[in-house]
Amino acid sequence: MRCSQKTGHRPFSTDTPSDTRFTREKTQHLSTSRSRAARGMNVIQKPRPGREEAGPGRLAPRGGQLRPTSLRRGRTAQLAATSPRPEMPLFSVPKEVAVGTAMLGVAFATGLLAGKRYPSLLFGTSKPHKSIIGKSSPLWQYILDHSLREHPILKKLRLLTAEYPWGKMMVSCDQAQLMANLIKLIKAKKVIEVGVLTGYNALSMALALPDNGRVIACDINEDYAKIGKPLWKEAGVDHKIDLRIKPATQTLDELLAGGEAETFDFAFIDADKESYNEYYEKCLRLIKKGGIIAIDNVLRCGMVLKPRKDDLATQSIHHLNEKLVRDARVNISMIPMGDGVTLVFKL
Ligand SMILES: C[S@@+](CC[C@H](N)C(=O)[O-])C[C@H]1O[C@@H](n2cnc3c(N)ncnc32)[C@H](O)[C@@H]1O
Repeated sequence: MRCSQKTGHRPFSTDTPSDTRFTREKTQHLSTSRSRAARGMNVIQKPRPGREEAGPGRLAPRGGQLRPTSLRRGRTAQLAATSPRPEMPLFSVPKEVAVGTAMLGVAFATGLLAGKRYPSLLFGTSKPHKSIIGKSSPLWQYILDHSLREHPILKKLRLLTAEYPWGKMMVSCDQAQLMANLIKLIKAKKVIEVGVLTGYNALSMALALPDNGRVIACDINEDYAKIGKPLWKEAGVDHKIDLRIKPATQTLDELLAGGEAETFDFAFIDADKESYNEYYEKCLRLIKKGGIIAIDNVLRCGMVLKPRKDDLATQSIHHLNEKLVRDARVNISMIPMGDGVTLVFKL
């Protein structure tokens, strides 16, 4: 599961940003996309209007109405004391106990299944949102109303991306704005994005860069970027975005081999989670001292608290988090924004 929001769940009108990503869905989407791509099929599909995705947001509320155990015990004891013993009992235990036990069994099995399918329910984030503050929370709307200054074409791209079922992979708009502000603060000229999608954040960074600035935008799937490209152009910054369609490790290696180590100011890592450590190490070599790397999804909707053995994406992020807190090459701040973003400052 990705901490995600139902597509079409728009409590704040069409301006509500798409929920950001939760990578199990991403991974599922990617693997589906890859197999579809391998079969020569178009992997970009528009949502059917009005049709909601099956997803965690649709999980019925838990609550098999079991009475508290103490009450059940009291009732059982009362029954035992007052009921005459039947001549030929159908059950070797009182019926209430048998029914109660069966209900407990059902509740336990349901809990296990729900926990497997929707781990966030077990890990304390009862709302299946990617964001720390749920996107249906009035506080989220308040944050946007009182901080978001979004370029009109950036907003257009966000709303366009949000129309697609995979649009929830898009970075959170408040987080994109923070990164753009950092880019301006450090007067960045060269930046990298690992994982572009339609380029919401690539566009946000391009808008923050000077006219001779450059975004090296790495993705394996050009179909997403094709949706965003006309808007990069409309915003007049397409000349700053250098899209490289191939595995990001390959692009980063090419930059290193081309003598561009220590020449970048900023990097944003937001692609396949299993490769995050590799992306981090390569980006660390590519950015200058004083440069910044932003690493997305570091909280994985709370699942980093107890990564499942079979959830390699969360395991990978958790290991990187453990490494970063001790990494003497950098200073860091882990920020509970979006799905958690760690800012890494190269020393
Ligand atoms: C979460 S989305 C990126 C969102 C984007 N940063 C934004 O501004 O909204 C992840 C992207 O990573 C890309 N991706 C996945 N594996 C990749 C790889 N090995 N190399 C490059 N890109 C990859 C996917 O195609 C997808 O577009």
